Amino acid sequence: MDRKLLKIPGMIDVHVHLRDPGATHKEDFYTGTCAALAGGVTTILDMPNNPIPIVSQKSLKEKMSVAKDKAVCDYGFYFGAGQANFEEHLKVGKEVCGLKVYLDSTHGPLLVKDLATLMKHFKYWSFGKPICVHAEDLSVAEVLGLVAIYQKPVHFCHISQASEIFLIQAAKEKKLPVTCEVTPHHLFLTENDEASLGPYAKMRPPLRTKQDQEALWKAVNNGVVDVIASDHAPHTVGEKGSVNPPFGVPGLETTLPLLLTAVSQGRLTLERLIELVSINPARIFGLKTDLQNTYLEVDLEKEWVINNTALATKCGWSPFDGWKVRGKVRKVYLRGMKVFEDGEVLARPGFGRLVIHEN
Ligand code: NCD
Ligand code: ZN
Ligand code: ZN
Ligand code: ZN
Repeated sequence: MDRKLLKIPGMIDVHVHLRDPGATHKEDFYTGTCAALAGGVTTILDMPNNPIPIVSQKSLKEKMSVAKDKAVCDYGFYFGAGQANFEEHLKVGKEVCGLKVYLDSTHGPLLVKDLATLMKHFKYWSFGKPICVHAEDLSVAEVLGLVAIYQKPVHFCHISQASEIFLIQAAKEKKLPVTCEVTPHHLFLTENDEASLGPYAKMRPPLRTKQDQEALWKAVNNGVVDVIASDHAPHTVGEKGSVNPPFGVPGLETTLPLLLTAVSQGRLTLERLIELVSINPARIFGLKTDLQNTYLEVDLEKEWVINNTALATKCGWSPFDGWKVRGKVRKVYLRGMKVFEDGEVLARPGFGRLVIHEN
């Protein structure tokens, strides 16, 4: 007999790299959005750091047409801050979910290296949508200085250290318009896992100390952390095994089971989980979501083992391979349509739609 299934809102993963177009040997818009549905994610926001970065209206349009044909879940796009693409802001501002600024070097060509360029992006970005930053360590303080001056909403991606959490909490107390996200890999792994995982534990920001991890959990529970996002950053097994492995780990399919396991252990409430993966992302990015008709049915008691061979992501591996988890997505409904059931994607490529913004 079937156990009673719990209904929760579809997840919105605000930090995903689907690699399409440009690096589709790692992931493409079909495989990536299949992985999303398998993980209970009904909307993904896609990052701009492909080999041909999304820094112009032209490249954005190209990506939009790829997604339109292939996506099985809903999606939105970030616009990438380049060295001189301020003029494009006005052309794309209505269509994207935010501006993405890389202040520290990571995978892909995007990086803003100088203050003058950074200031211009802050000055010209309008539409009230968040400026999302990859900022590590000292860069967090730099960005907070700009938030204080320009008073524009900033979302800190993948915050990983106690010191950064401390500053963001202080900024919130001073009523600066900031929000932040943490990833499951920083919540469930530490630098101690690097020895066994090798290149599969290599990502930006890197895995941190036990103390940092504890600070992140505290901030998840006390409301300083607004969002949990996967930073789904697939690279192939071959690339990871090479002399210079690229940074990044996949995560779309493991966020929810890991978090449901934490709920079953009393480390997180279900209510808080839903805020972190659905309610807050929708609010921060001004997404109009039909939560009545977009939801998951999860089996909270189902125990299972995460297994590389059973993943939908094209890269075919997870740093959590072999982890025993509790809680499984059984069915996913998107805008009233059943799109996933027991491991099988039911939606046709192209069913996914571009997100609608409230403003
Ligand atoms: C990301 C990627 O591979 O695109 N890698 C990573 O280690 N997180 C880029 C990023 O989010 O910085
Ligand atoms: Zn960085
Ligand atoms: Zn990043
Ligand atoms: Zn990323």
